[in-house]
Amino acid sequence: VKRITTHILQEMKDRGEKISMLTSYDFSMAKIVDAAGIDIILVGDSASNVMAGHETTLPITLDQMIYHASAVVRAVSRAFVVVDIPFGSYQGNSSEALRSTIRIMKESGAHAVKVEGGSEIRESITRILSAGVPVMGHLGLTPQSIYKFGTYTVRAKEDAEAEKLISDAKLLEELGCFAVVLEKIPAKLAKTVAESVSIPVIGIGAGGHVDGQVLVVHDMLGITQEFKPRFLRQYADLQGVMMEAFGKYIKDVKSKDFPNDSESY
Ligand code: KIV
Ligand code: NA
Repeated sequence: VKRITTHILQEMKDRGEKISMLTSYDFSMAKIVDAAGIDIILVGDSASNVMAGHETTLPITLDQMIYHASAVVRAVSRAFVVVDIPFGSYQGNSSEALRSTIRIMKESGAHAVKVEGGSEIRESITRILSAGVPVMGHLGLTPQSIYKFGTYTVRAKEDAEAEKLISDAKLLEELGCFAVVLEKIPAKLAKTVAESVSIPVIGIGAGGHVDGQVLVVHDMLGITQEFKPRFLRQYADLQGVMMEAFGKYIKDVKSKDFPNDSESY
């Protein structure tokens, strides 16, 4: 199969084909997601919530992100693999941003990194790009800044924040980012951004007038069921499927139905 590249993603935007993106954090899930034909797999720092049970994305470490990313990369033969640089490993120090990126690329074999923010981190982005590593931006509700926002509510409803978001998106394009994620902003603003930049704009909670969509895989599969924002479409009830399977297994063990003769040596 032909590997997805940044050039192919740009061609998709140019001809109006929507880009599909999902997260993965481990080998087994990434294998299925890739086989299904997803264009981009994000090793998101949402692993901090989904894999480790933290309340925010802030605690996950660079070593932990590399562990997740290397497992995903081993599973994937078609998708473009993007890895979140975790909180504290790139902001405000471009040398550290480059060092973190080089570790991710060398130790996991991923294809690109993602960072949160615009003008605040322009030096870090420039430094990473100068090393030849593709960078995906992330604007809007950037979860690494949750304590600045104080709430997970929709961002950029006011003009000042919306204008900064548009100019940040243009800056990311200018710097050379290959794509940008917009999280939880009004659909109208996301549409303006997607029309204002030529690079692909991938939305989560940003409406349908963007160039692609991303969801957290455990959320869309219904494995996590505490988290149900309006933007989440749940494509399966895997929690239900798993609970039923586990319930049957427990019952079969207790009743001595499992294992039977044909399941024994
Ligand atoms: O970490 C993550 O899963 C993300 C997506 C929600 C875009 O950054
Ligand atoms: Na993230």
